Amino acid sequence: MRDKIERLSTLKAGIVAGGGERKVEKQHSLGKMTARERIAALLDASSFVEIDAFVEHRCTYFGMEKVEIPGEGVVTGYGNIDGRLVYVFAQDFTALGGTLGEMHASKICKILELALKVGAPVIGINDSGGARIQEAVDAMRGYGDIFYRNTIASGVVPQISIIMGPCAGGATYSPALTDFIFMVDKTSNMFITGPQVIKAVTGEDVTVDALGGPMTHNRISGVAHFLSSDELTCLASVRKLIGFLPLSNRELPPISSSLDSGDRLCPELSDILPDSSNRTYDMKKIIASVVDHHDFFEVQPYYAQNVITGFARFGGRPAGIIANQPQIMAGCLDINASDKASRFISICDSFNVPLVSFVDVPGFMPGSNQEYGGIIRHGAKLLYAYSDATVPKVTVIVRKAYGGAYIAMCSRHLGADMVLAWPSAEIAVMGSEGAANIIFKKEIDASANPNETRGAKIAEYTKEFSNPYQAAKRGYVDDVIEPSETRKHIASALVMLAPKCESRPARKHGNFPV
Ligand code: HXC
Repeated sequence: MRDKIERLSTLKAGIVAGGGERKVEKQHSLGKMTARERIAALLDASSFVEIDAFVEHRCTYFGMEKVEIPGEGVVTGYGNIDGRLVYVFAQDFTALGGTLGEMHASKICKILELALKVGAPVIGINDSGGARIQEAVDAMRGYGDIFYRNTIASGVVPQISIIMGPCAGGATYSPALTDFIFMVDKTSNMFITGPQVIKAVTGEDVTVDALGGPMTHNRISGVAHFLSSDELTCLASVRKLIGFLPLSNRELPPISSSLDSGDRLCPELSDILPDSSNRTYDMKKIIASVVDHHDFFEVQPYYAQNVITGFARFGGRPAGIIANQPQIMAGCLDINASDKASRFISICDSFNVPLVSFVDVPGFMPGSNQEYGGIIRHGAKLLYAYSDATVPKVTVIVRKAYGGAYIAMCSRHLGADMVLAWPSAEIAVMGSEGAANIIFKKEIDASANPNETRGAKIAEYTKEFSNPYQAAKRGYVDDVIEPSETRKHIASALVMLAPKCESRPARKHGNFPV
């Protein structure tokens, strides 16, 4: 028996060594950890249990029968984050570039299937040269099998992708099908076709970083959700994100014991708005003020900054926050903001995370660019996502809530359960100036002093309509509150709404506008 146990430890040591010292050194010299180091940093100490370490490829083309790929280039298994179960796979770039062959894919598929059966998140660490060229169609099949399982698992268990190296071609579509993508500065990239192919096909010169680097996908394309300066920071962020989510859609998100009382007042909010409603301010200050311990975990902080999305807690209860940002494009909703917010809302709803929306929106962005880009169908996503969401929905109208954008930002009419408004709220078809210019045009034009008449009419319209009381009279706003009591009202509403149960008519699925 002893010799058999010895053989087992020799075999395991060979697998754990990955592609060997030289490859590991190269990995380290690039500022990258190995697959096993990454898993160890991600999970609670000593909690990782490996599965399928002995799996081998069975390719015989191009001399591959002589090529050993420890662990088939991917380490898979399960472990804990803060004592909660997660499944993990990490591609091992030291083992033939972490390339994906048939058996490498089947290891990942097994993890996805287990996660679905048990009901726990899957975290995938991508660092790979892509489809293992020698395996040809078997490698492509492997990707297809993963895409299929990513899709089936969508909305059932949280799926998180971490890009810690190359991720090219069709390989990018597995992360794209998951809920959140993390990228690391300088070492990660994602693209469908690389610079050489682009040069050959279109003549365009572009670097890897400009094409598919972390800032490209965090700021320009919106493909990625988080950017970290290094791998350890990135893995710590993943751990933090997991803390806001339930293990599966069968559970509620975890309530943490918060020392920050839900009753805490926020007196600083009484003076946070500028005197003129045409002036900007930072909505993030309002969010930071009202959430537990002022801790707001922003999602997609670099993309479509006119809308803010992220997670926070109120009295220990996680919530997804969506807010207009008056500092950027006056907080208008455009194509990218609609995409960003609707995707976030849909993810929160699928995992039972309540939604809290802060509204200060002058409207949808006007312009031919927006119309040609399809603002109608993109904006419709926001209406759809909010209407479709059955989680508790709390809306706070801080200032402007005009026209279609008022409706779109989780109004009562899209099913908000609690709508609160600050006394500064302006709930109207449009701003006072625009409205007065249209409906009092004849009086203004006929007046001996048009400017004076215009001013008086604007004041009249403001008094009558640019306030929260018209909407409150109809019950579209449940209460007009003092800004300092915002946190208290939100926290109480989330407790009150926690048992909410809302159903929809039976259907195969709705047709989300795309
Ligand atoms: C087989 C590969 C490979 C691949 C890398 N290797 N990519 N083997 N198939 N796709 C091997 C290398 O031969 C090398 O083997 C080891 O992995 C490490 O690669 P290096 O080139 O030495 O590393 P580096 O210099 O860091 O360059 C990394 C790289 C480069 C940028 C990823 O290897 C590269 O461009 N690879 C090809 C990428 C690609 O075009 N993939 C296909 C994408 S399309 P040794 O023996 O020296 O360790 C795709 C389609 C999916 O994936 C379809 C889904 C539907």
